[in-house]
Amino acid sequence: MVRYEGMVVISLHVNGENREVAVRPADLLLTVLREQLGLTAAKPGCLNGDCGACTVIVDGWPVKSCLMLAVEAEGHTILTVEGLGGTAAVHRAFVDANAFQCGYCTPGFLMVCHALMTRHPAMPGESVVEEWLASNLCRCTSYQEIRSAVERMYAP
Ligand code: FES
Ligand code: FES
Repeated sequence: MVRYEGMVVISLHVNGENREVAVRPADLLLTVLREQLGLTAAKPGCLNGDCGACTVIVDGWPVKSCLMLAVEAEGHTILTVEGLGGTAAVHRAFVDANAFQCGYCTPGFLMVCHALMTRHPAMPGESVVEEWLASNLCRCTSYQEIRSAVERMYAP
């Protein structure tokens, strides 16, 4: 980490690449991903840790990027929807189950469900799925379709 004039230069490992960015110590990971790295899939919703629209995967776990400082993310592996490349099982499952409406929440749900599959390679019980999905809100009430997508993800 290099410091100059109130800024710090950090290297973020995002979607398989190392990206150098100059940030202020208080900059959110969400803001840096969107405004400096052009990765706009993660969305600013509540900016309070409640809605999950900003969810990305850090070291294999879903993380709300509005609650993480960019400087805290240095040295960790970050995955955003852009890094899934459109071929992940979760994409196909969401399309097949029509698990989206307005789409503002969808990137966050894709990240949570992708991480769920990474952490639980076999279909987990209903209570585990509910617990994981509880971190994200969908204002269009696509919950049943999203649950169906999770089932399709495990049995494509
Ligand atoms: S914007 Fe991060 S949880 Fe809502
Ligand atoms: S599809 Fe989730 S908020 Fe509309």
